Amino acid sequence: MPRIEYGKAIFPRHGLEVTVSRATLKLCLCFVPKRLRFLLLPSFLVLSSLYTEQRAIQSYVHRKPPGHLAIIILYTRANMLKYSNSPTKNKILDVMSTMEIVQLPGSTLLAIVVVLYLGLVQTLRYRSFRNLNKAYAAYLRDPYSLDYKTAHQIMKRVMLYEFPWMFAFGTQWALFETYTVATGTELLVQTRQLTSDSTVGKRTEDTVVLLTEFLVGSLDSDRGSKALAKVNWMHRRYGSKIKQPELLHTLAMFVLEPIRWLNNREWRPMTELEEVAIFTYWKEIGNRMGIKNIPDTLEELKIWTAEYTQENVYFTKYNKMCAESTMRLFLRNFPLFMRGFAQHAAVSLLGERSRLALGYEKPPRWISRLVSSAFYIRRFVIRHFFLPRLHELEPLAKLDSTGRLYRDKWAFEPWYVKVTAKTWFEGWLWTSGKVLPGPKYKRNGFLVEELGPVEYEQISKDSVAKEAEEMQAYASQGGSFAFGCPFRSVGYPPQYGA
Ligand code: HEM
Repeated sequence: MPRIEYGKAIFPRHGLEVTVSRATLKLCLCFVPKRLRFLLLPSFLVLSSLYTEQRAIQSYVHRKPPGHLAIIILYTRANMLKYSNSPTKNKILDVMSTMEIVQLPGSTLLAIVVVLYLGLVQTLRYRSFRNLNKAYAAYLRDPYSLDYKTAHQIMKRVMLYEFPWMFAFGTQWALFETYTVATGTELLVQTRQLTSDSTVGKRTEDTVVLLTEFLVGSLDSDRGSKALAKVNWMHRRYGSKIKQPELLHTLAMFVLEPIRWLNNREWRPMTELEEVAIFTYWKEIGNRMGIKNIPDTLEELKIWTAEYTQENVYFTKYNKMCAESTMRLFLRNFPLFMRGFAQHAAVSLLGERSRLALGYEKPPRWISRLVSSAFYIRRFVIRHFFLPRLHELEPLAKLDSTGRLYRDKWAFEPWYVKVTAKTWFEGWLWTSGKVLPGPKYKRNGFLVEELGPVEYEQISKDSVAKEAEEMQAYASQGGSFAFGCPFRSVGYPPQYGA
């Protein structure tokens, strides 16, 4: 009877012992990233034990590799029964000793590897999803019982691990959709931050950085509360020019657009728990922004948004101006000959009402089809062929020893990015050297309260710090979740944006 041990097969009856050395095992594993090893080790051990057995058989019958599929399977079976004296095991070993060696062609080996890989993808792809449901099982029956802190944990999983690209895309898209609201865009044109080519890059990057601070970092942290306080400060400057329904519509876009994109285009639809988690966290943000009458459920928010859209989404020249400057920013990095195509591709993703409200022509049908197919292929490939990512992304700006924050990734312009060989090379690669990190883009980093238009940098500092403190005190009492209605609380949030 052979005794199968780790990396070793011993055949006492035939005086045969074959080993796969630990050194070989280590050598193979050292090419695998550390975090993957725990995944690969079990399959590697099975393979190495198969290999060992195969070598044993080959030595036994004095034939050369490659091996013998039937014997591998039988030996694996015997291996599984190695601690028992089962009659099946003896039978298997008897059969084996009389078997002829059958050559295993390379293509079969390849097919086995492919099937094993696809099996691994299927098993691991849904693992995080299953774990999430297990960890938050208490909320599955009634996701609306989530408090905003737990909701944030779930939202972070969605945003940074499960679907980071599509979530970021959906959030950017939400901003674009807000330009369809006829009553809101005139103010955005007046401030010129969005419509001037010299400021639209900074406005867009600042928005990304501020949102990242309180969506990825915590709303209750020093940085997160300062970021939201700064947004509130900017909005307050425009007083009643920013209307409550407009604020609620923008909030709805930030909730509903990522959900819509994820459900329509990702490798799996979202669960109710995930959707409600996004809604719950944004609702807390909305409460701290002084947004009133936020509906209690996602369904109600959808109904409110549909009704609001019917009446307020229509064409104005201001909508078009906001959309066009953002579109020019997006097209900047495309070679000239591709810009027409890229614009049609982007427009093909807009719904009919939004397209008309922004004043774009209907794109050619073939472009719409091509874009849909690209998304379809992406979904199919990710779902069946990609192993899940190893860890959550970390898009928050990093603090350095000077106390300032730095980014290492950017969307359109490298604001607050340190100049290193890597960031310089990336800038050069994406923009052919036209847009590189440097003094123009504040390579010396940022403090959260400095973000936003340059002219507000100094004058806003004190009130932003004060509001952030108030916000943290309010959060320490449980935030709006604890107060039920934010306006019953003791002085925070202040009422503005009538
Ligand atoms: C949930 C709702 C909203 C969120 C989360 C939000 C977020 C932001 C953020 C992150 C900024 C900073 C941009 C920068 O750094 O320059 C900002 C600025 C600003 N927002 Fe909002 N916003 C919302 C709704 C609105 C609405 C409805 C309006 C008006 C129609 C508006 C008008 C402005 C203006 C005028 C600024 C100052 C910067 C500029 O002049 O463009 N916001 N907002």
